[in-house]
Amino acid sequence: MCGIVGIVGKGPATPRLVDGLLRLEYRGYDSAGVATLVDGHIERRRAEGRIRNLEALLLEQPLAGSTGIGHTRWATHGAPNENNAHPHATEKVAVVHNGIIENFAELKAELVAKGRKFATDTDTEVVAHLLTVLILEGLSPEAAMAAAMHRLHGAFALAVIVAGRPDLLLAARRGSPLAIGYGEGEMYVGSDALALAPLTKMISYLDDGDWAVLTTDGAQVYDQNDKKVAREVRETVLSGALVGKGNFQHFMQKEIFEQPAVIGDTLRSYVNPATHRVTLPELPADLATLKRVQLVACGTSFYAASVARYWIEQLARLPCDVEIASEFRYRDPVLEEGGLSMFVSQSGETIDTLSALRFARGRGQKIAAIVNVPESSMAREADALLATHAGPEIGVASTKAFTTQLAVLAAFAFAAARARGTQSPERLATLAQAIAGIPEKVSGVLAADDRIRAAAKIVAPARDVLYLGRGTAFPIAMEGALKLKEISYIHAEGYAAGEMKHGPIALIAPDVPVIVLAPNDEWFEKTASNVQEVRARGGQVVLFSDKAGIAKIGNLAVAAIELPSCDPFVAPILYSVPVQLLAYYVALIKGTDIDKPRNLAKSVTVE
Ligand code: G6P
Repeated sequence: MCGIVGIVGKGPATPRLVDGLLRLEYRGYDSAGVATLVDGHIERRRAEGRIRNLEALLLEQPLAGSTGIGHTRWATHGAPNENNAHPHATEKVAVVHNGIIENFAELKAELVAKGRKFATDTDTEVVAHLLTVLILEGLSPEAAMAAAMHRLHGAFALAVIVAGRPDLLLAARRGSPLAIGYGEGEMYVGSDALALAPLTKMISYLDDGDWAVLTTDGAQVYDQNDKKVAREVRETVLSGALVGKGNFQHFMQKEIFEQPAVIGDTLRSYVNPATHRVTLPELPADLATLKRVQLVACGTSFYAASVARYWIEQLARLPCDVEIASEFRYRDPVLEEGGLSMFVSQSGETIDTLSALRFARGRGQKIAAIVNVPESSMAREADALLATHAGPEIGVASTKAFTTQLAVLAAFAFAAARARGTQSPERLATLAQAIAGIPEKVSGVLAADDRIRAAAKIVAPARDVLYLGRGTAFPIAMEGALKLKEISYIHAEGYAAGEMKHGPIALIAPDVPVIVLAPNDEWFEKTASNVQEVRARGGQVVLFSDKAGIAKIGNLAVAAIELPSCDPFVAPILYSVPVQLLAYYVALIKGTDIDKPRNLAKSVTVE
């Protein structure tokens, strides 16, 4: 899973390919490379690691040419070294690829039998050799592409240049997204419109199974049956400007501190500040009569969905299932015809979630997507889009996207409760007030920054950390543990506080910090008992609670951090913020690469 970009043009390609790759670095950063046509020959520059390594190499060994392709990699097949870095090339073609060629072993055996020599451990190299063999057998590059599409299995986006054909760029999409950009006397391809934003605003998206022939004059798109088709060209709203860190040391830190503003931006789309009336975009289902709602997501988005299940069931008495996308469709779930399935995703491109969305549609579900990237595949394919307005999130560990997802899901739960008449007008009024007040409360949480930074010193030396919470604080405990794992590489588990006695209690020892999320809600007393159990076994508690909670059990903690008191309904949004900051400051102490942690990628487009 990777980012790809291509240009068939008139000006120097390499600097613009590299600029496109920088915008795609969120898709992976194990290696990067570019290939261009120089006097008709394929020339490549590739480097292990970040794009900045490729930039350094290009300074020493510049690459001319006005037609070329580029790639930033998240390794699937083959170690993340220079040899396995894309583009992969033969004497005839160079290929960049995002996705997985599932039948690569079978194709490789066939191509080796034909005398082709492989140089890498990647699945992608079969595409280069397959196209080469087809061209050597006499097919035109275009016909070779059409033939190859019928041989390749799996999910992929491809861009290909051909030796001796500086007028040609081939592209294909099955599963993984691919955008075509229309320039003046130039054409582009990219994994997303953002990669192409500085080059052009005129974009079309390939449909699944499409492949395309791009020349300097335009593009001809073919569908999976090789029939000529036209895909709508639209003007993207994305900006070509690269987002900066401002005065912050890391994007993650900046994004944590942006939360009051972006939660406010998001809520403005759903809550009228004067009347506190909540309005959702038109949904493909009637909330008053709906029998069940299904929430599907991955990673951090899954934890947002997990909080929402408590809200939706408690407030709206609407049965709600939450599922990890990669399990959902393979479980063969029972879905009611006409039911509502909601897909939660920052990127709108995560292949597990996107495939689950398509699966649900195939099972007769109505589809809503809660997505941060408005032109993403999920946003385009859903019946209804509930947008989060977090703005571009650059830090790989998700922060502001998570709390804005929670804000939208809170508005959804509220709207469902109102439609179903399950809450009194008085309770609805307090809930609306609480939702509208979230940005200010989150600002109040950020004021505890220094104390959280100090508490990070307790956590940083640990090898294992336990996070505990009950009710809506339980998914936040899991999210807190995920944040710590992702950026500090410390092993952490998020547990339902009541479940601790059924196993994890065996782990309690003075060197295992226990982070307790204890908002003053209906579960507080029970959580307090669990804190006693931890203390009785010598565990070191870092407590997050409000003034009243700290007055009750603060003495049991090595660090007790006071957060603003709030309506318990919005507590999970407030309590998300300190676990983000704690992970951030621990990672800062450990000196990890906070914005681009090892092995991860911001948007995962392979299964
Ligand atoms: C990746 C990221 C996670 C993210 C998950 C789901 O694994 O590293 O931070 O939560 O994908 O991403 P999505 O864009 O669908 O929310």
